[in-house]
Amino acid sequence: MRRKRIVLGITGGIAAYKSAELVRLLVKDGIEVQVVMTEAACGFITEATMQALSGRPVFTDMWDSRIADNMAHIELSRGADAIVVVPATADFLAKTANGLADDLLSTLCIARECPLLAAPAMNRQMWQNAATQRNVAQLKRDGVTILGPASGDQACGEIGMGRMLEAREIYEAVASFLQPKFLNGKHVLITAGPTFEAIDPVRGITNRSSGKMGYSIARAALDAGAKVTLVSGPVSLEPPAAARLERVESAAKMFEAVKKSAKAADIFIAVAAVADYRIANPSKQKIKRTSAELELKLVPNPDILAWVAALPKPPFCVGFAAESQKLNELADEKRRRKKVPLMVANLAQDAIGADDNEVTLLDDGGTHKLPRASKPEIARQLVAYIARQYSGRKNKKS
Ligand code: CTP
Repeated sequence: MRRKRIVLGITGGIAAYKSAELVRLLVKDGIEVQVVMTEAACGFITEATMQALSGRPVFTDMWDSRIADNMAHIELSRGADAIVVVPATADFLAKTANGLADDLLSTLCIARECPLLAAPAMNRQMWQNAATQRNVAQLKRDGVTILGPASGDQACGEIGMGRMLEAREIYEAVASFLQPKFLNGKHVLITAGPTFEAIDPVRGITNRSSGKMGYSIARAALDAGAKVTLVSGPVSLEPPAAARLERVESAAKMFEAVKKSAKAADIFIAVAAVADYRIANPSKQKIKRTSAELELKLVPNPDILAWVAALPKPPFCVGFAAESQKLNELADEKRRRKKVPLMVANLAQDAIGADDNEVTLLDDGGTHKLPRASKPEIARQLVAYIARQYSGRKNKKS
């Protein structure tokens, strides 16, 4: 995939300090960042800082002679995937909404061929001001993506709306904006996290799945343009806002939720660590301790993935196999038994609860190992792979 390139515009607000961290995150992700600063921005953060972090010369002036034909206002954004303005002051929003171009950044914006994203940052009264709200509405109508702002403590000591999003939130929004839309218009159903099988009203059987892999896949599928239904067991993670979330506890409830959505799904990704057994007769009252032995009778849970794969017109089904030994052999056996086209194999002791993962993809074409990476990165690569396999199958059928 071609290396992504953005122009990062910085305007004059105290939140400019967050743009330094943003550049670091973008560069770390392999994105090329060309920084352009307004004169006022240079009063808040230095060109030297931004140059060191981006690894590229910073531009501030329309007449910069480093661009041979003196067309910095045009050249710098050609070939860019987006211009991202962080922070965007009230003045910048007003200028851009009205097509004014009196410095390098505003001129680049009006001469751009690529999308524009802006993260406003200002005092709450400035944000609420009717003129600012009018300008923001106009920018949205013009197709500009406005990131935030959030509500909270402000540099002026007041509290309210207008605080800029954190660098990491802006990074995630930009990274997601730049993802190829492999799954535009597709419906992806995902199960994630553990299940909890009640023994009595306060106790139960569960496992150590954190839900991180499933939630990362949900986010990656959304970023790829899909509509996502996320059926999640009990986890303590923030779900992606754009997903339709169904929280469940037991495998039986997870099965019910999946049954409702499976027929309309194009792709089903079973990431959940579903308990294989449940208590035959959970007690309605809390079980009291006695000195006698306690026997719990377990009965098998339905296999959700195998049920979906056996539908007359199943969605493209992807399973996860967590094994503690003979990884590829056991995972492939599981793939054949559950009759799914693609199985993602990982070592249980390696993957459960961790922030990164190493997986092997098994399908009719053989095995394909993805090198160790963070779960969000594995999720992005996996979604791209699934999209290719899915459209390959569709094309074969039609
Ligand atoms: N799965 C499921 N419903 C179940 C059990 C598993 O949908 N009741 C799905 C999981 O979400 C995963 C895949 O099947 O995608 C494999 O899960 P795993 O627990 O490894 O397989 P099991 O069939 O339970 O095999 P075992 O525990 O014996 O290894």
